[in-house]
Amino acid sequence: SPLIARTVPALRRAVDNLRKRKATIALVPTMGALHDGHVSLVRLAKRRASRVVVSIFVNPTQFAPTEDFGAYPRTWKSDIAKLAAEDVDIVWHPGVEAMYPEGFATRIVPEGPALAGLEDRFRPHFFGGVATVVGKLFTQCRPDVAIFGEKDFQQLRVVTQMARDLDLGVKVIGSRTVRERDGLAMSSRNVYLSAEERQTATTLYRAMKESAGRIRTGEAIAPAMARGAEMIKAAGFALDYYEARHAATLAEVTSRKDGPLRILVAAKLGTTRLIDNIAV
Ligand code: PAJ
Repeated sequence: SPLIARTVPALRRAVDNLRKRKATIALVPTMGALHDGHVSLVRLAKRRASRVVVSIFVNPTQFAPTEDFGAYPRTWKSDIAKLAAEDVDIVWHPGVEAMYPEGFATRIVPEGPALAGLEDRFRPHFFGGVATVVGKLFTQCRPDVAIFGEKDFQQLRVVTQMARDLDLGVKVIGSRTVRERDGLAMSSRNVYLSAEERQTATTLYRAMKESAGRIRTGEAIAPAMARGAEMIKAAGFALDYYEARHAATLAEVTSRKDGPLRILVAAKLGTTRLIDNIAV
């Protein structure tokens, strides 16, 4: 089973030991409550490096005071069982005081095109918290590569930009979204959904497929997206955004010819906020 490190020196020792044996290292950052989406990242990590470090840290700085930091699911035992089954080498599990010791006062604040007016518009604190903790995870572990899910598409863009801008020397690799059989993207937050909401939640994927299909067969973006947004609202969601963007830059688009497109959605069902995206 994996070595569990809880302090920076313990992690450094464990990583240095692997390095002495000429290992290449992949990092998979997570907040725990692991599901098959996370496991798929671990499997990609194993293909991209000889050793795998998984971090489990529910990062308080990326939650607003009104959000679900306290309620966020914590399933340590089953997480470790899953990682042991995947032959993960190291689990990096710092306490809040190891990550943010008394007196901590520096943040990484992303700017530029990755702040595309999507998640950042509705969770203004979010990417500052993510960039700061991921920057720390990268410098704590010093991996060769780090794997992030396309499920959090804007996060993948923000982290890629940060790694490049700060010369962190980590290659950021995106991994496909893993879905339930009915299309719902796997998420640690899906456990918040009631049985009825869980049924309704599949609408997000169906709506994106509907809009993508219409755009692919020549319908203009605006009406194709309006149709999908209608489906989502009719199902009872409160919609934060439902947009088609340039897949690489996240820039706004008006026509299919503006480039490879990605449809991105965030919507609330009751108190649960879900996000998802697909390629057109
Ligand atoms: P968390 O939500 O635990 O997700 C960890 C990683 O798993 C992220 O890269 C996310 O995109 C990926 N992931 C989640 N659901 C997925 C799915 N259904 N298919 C494929 N990949 C999926 O994202 C975070 O944690 C945090 O913001 C973190 C990066 C760890 C910083 O705190």
